[in-house]
Amino acid sequence: VSLRPYNTFSLDATARYFTTFHSMAALQEILQDPRWQQVPKMILGGGSNVLFTQNFDGLVLKNEIKGINKVGEDEDHVYVKAGAGENWHQFVMHCIEQDLGGLENLSLIPGNVGASPMQNIGAYGVEIKDTFYELEALETASQQPVHFNNAACEFGYRESVFKRQYKNQFVILHVTYRLLKKPAINTSYGAIEQELERMGISHPTIRDVSQAVINIRSSKLPNPAEIGNAGSFFKNPEISAEKYEQLKAAFPGIVAYPLPGNRYKLAAGWLIEQCGWKGFREGDAGVHGRQALVLVNYGHANGADIYALSTRVLDSVREKFGVALEREVNVV
Ligand code: FAD
Ligand code: EPU
Repeated sequence: VSLRPYNTFSLDATARYFTTFHSMAALQEILQDPRWQQVPKMILGGGSNVLFTQNFDGLVLKNEIKGINKVGEDEDHVYVKAGAGENWHQFVMHCIEQDLGGLENLSLIPGNVGASPMQNIGAYGVEIKDTFYELEALETASQQPVHFNNAACEFGYRESVFKRQYKNQFVILHVTYRLLKKPAINTSYGAIEQELERMGISHPTIRDVSQAVINIRSSKLPNPAEIGNAGSFFKNPEISAEKYEQLKAAFPGIVAYPLPGNRYKLAAGWLIEQCGWKGFREGDAGVHGRQALVLVNYGHANGADIYALSTRVLDSVREKFGVALEREVNVV
């Protein structure tokens, strides 16, 4: 089966077997089937954060669990539970339509609800950990459903327990978010303020914030329907204050944000641009011309081409700045 329609890099890798499931029971049935016992398995959502560097000699299971339901309420919050197979942006729009705040800054992030806790998706000053309440996952070894609350997920910057010690051990089935009845507008990310000003809005609602985010994202991130990509290919690296001072002295234009604990986060896009990669293209693999943190497939690059380019980018950033970039995309 070609995985091309199922990954936003539009890579033409294949899976030996491919199937979908719409419920926990259906997933359990597949996992208990003797035919699949010895076959390697991989869960796929929207395929917007994976890089297939080779064909997958196993079973790809696409999560199609649907449904969005209000499951609780307290004085300030409404709890909304969504199936892992729901499209993330449609879920965000649903919450905004209900006047529930907390996810509007995360508008237009590709992919599905089930992957949102995997790397604690974030954008424009907000991460899902700010509103995440709990999730339900199937432990593949025991075939038992397990609940994880916010603390149990051990969320960090583009990190969770599911990318580390529990990698490939749980299938996320449902995720519940705790949303605000009285939205708290967050325009701390400079670009939002500027865009709202451009839109002529001084007292933004959550709809306005969502629209500002949509406008910004559409202006600089490549649309996967047109150019294959998986968003930021690398994480923004965190460094010590000492290292930051050294770099700042040598490169006064460096873009960095202070973090708690006397550390700094660097804009990897700036580092990559300074190494001359922005707009680079070799064959069909390239570095996006408006956002150097995004690697792109112009058509027929394969995953190995993209991976090789990412290694060259990593090496040059290490050489010029002495900073080690880490890949954010899940390499298969
Ligand atoms: P997939 O790519 O299908 O899967 C990602 C990983 O999670 C894989 O390892 C997969 O095995 C695993 N997985 C998926 N679903 C499940 C499940 N139900 N249970 C267990 N494991 C699962 N990310 C951000 O954080 N912020 C951004 O601003 C952002 N912008 C982007 C912009 C573009 C144009 C693109 C293409 C991507 C962007 N991303 C961003 C990355 C991506 O949107 C997110 O990582 C998203 O959460 C991936 O969802 P998905 O359903 O496509 O996951
Ligand atoms: N910059 C450059 N050149 C570039 C790109 C960026 O100099 O080519 C500098 C600019 O100074 C810019 C700054 O870097 O102001 C930050 O750029 P941007 O606002 O585009 O954000 P980012 O740090 O590159 C991160 C996330 C994005 C998220 C945006 C908005 C990571 C790895 N990436 O990108 O997430 O949408 O912030 O919050 O943290 C993703 O994870 O896939 C993703 C797209």
